[in-house]
Amino acid sequence: MGEEQHIIWHQSTVTKHERQQQNNHKSCVIWFTGLSGSGKSSLANALDQMLFSKKVQSYVLDGDNIRHGLNAGLGFSKEDRKENIRRIGEVSKLFVDSGQIVSTAFISPFREDREQVRALFPEGEFIEVYVKCPIFICENRDPKGLYKKARKGEISDFTGISSPYEEPDHPELVIETDQLTISQSVERIIDYLKQKEIL
Ligand code: ADX
Repeated sequence: MGEEQHIIWHQSTVTKHERQQQNNHKSCVIWFTGLSGSGKSSLANALDQMLFSKKVQSYVLDGDNIRHGLNAGLGFSKEDRKENIRRIGEVSKLFVDSGQIVSTAFISPFREDREQVRALFPEGEFIEVYVKCPIFICENRDPKGLYKKARKGEISDFTGISSPYEEPDHPELVIETDQLTISQSVERIIDYLKQKEIL
C-alpha cells in the first residue's frame, strides 16, 4: 500500500457555490492555447484587467511566470509539457473551486493534454480559447527573439518549428489575433461569458 492511501480529501466547509453567490458571478477557467507570440498572455492580461475593473474575482496564470516557480525544472519535451499542463490544470481547478475566473496562457500544444485538463471540470467550467494566428505572423512579431533562435537551431523542440502544435477540434472560442484588436477580442470573450451566464 502506498502512503497516498492514507491521504483523505477534506471537503471545505464553504462551498464553491456559496463563493460564487457571494462574488455575484460563476467561476471558470479560460484556457488560452496557441503558438508562442500568438497573443495568449496579452489577451489573458487584458481580459483580467477588464474583469478586475468590473469587480470580478479574476487571476492569470502565465506560461513564462509559472515556469520560473511552480514548474521550474520542467523543459519542453512532450513529457515535460504534459506535466506542465497537468499541474496547471490542477492549480486552475483550485482557483475555480475558490470562486475565481482564472485565465491561463500556455501554448499547451497537445490536444490530449488539454482534454485531460478539460476532464477535471464539470461541463461549462472549462472554456478553451484558441488564440489563432498564422505562424509567419507570430514569427514576425517574435517578441522574445525565440523564433530566430529556433530557426538557427539554438532552441530545440520549438513549437511550430521543431515540435508540433495541434489545433483544438472544438474550442469554445476562436480568436484570430491577426484580425481583431485586443479590445475587440476581450469584448468577444466577455460576451461569451455573459451569454453563458458566468457573468
Ligand atoms: S507548453 O508547451 O508547456 O504549454 P509554456 O506555455 O509553458 O509551454 O511555455 C512556452 C514559453 O516558453 C514560450 O512562450 C517561450 O517564451 C518559452 N519557450 C522556451 N523554449 C521553448 C520551446 N522549445 N518551445 C516553446 N516555447 C518555448
